[in-house]
Amino acid sequence: MKAHLTRRYRFSASHRLHNQSMSPEENLATYGKCNNPYGHGHNYIVEVTVSGHVDSSTGMVCNLVDLDGFVKEQIVDRYDHTNLNMMDEFQKLVPTTENLCVEIFDRLQKSFRPAKVERVRIEETMMNSFEYAGGRELAH
Ligand code: NI
Repeated sequence: MKAHLTRRYRFSASHRLHNQSMSPEENLATYGKCNNPYGHGHNYIVEVTVSGHVDSSTGMVCNLVDLDGFVKEQIVDRYDHTNLNMMDEFQKLVPTTENLCVEIFDRLQKSFRPAKVERVRIEETMMNSFEYAGGRELAH
């Protein structure tokens, strides 16, 4: 019996949407006020969905302690109270929340073993959210 488990996490970070390969005018036209040189912050809410067989003895897909510890170490501690533009992964990649979703998904999927990472969804504001479920999943 397979089941899904979704858990929410939060961190705060700042970013500036700016593509170094575009002119200042193109950046402003593309990103508007999000291109402001001083950046701005968000309280991101990250939903991580994992799946697996429900263990017959524990009754669980995976232990929340394992998931929480892993996400805290790999994601929350990594990004909380940072400027995303300063992170290695965003030196050549614009730190939009779409790209942040993909980075977080890849980082979790690469090394979380107790269950399969199915999806990462990020709420950037009350009005928008983004999700990524891995390139391979799109073909299903
Ligand atoms: Ni923003």
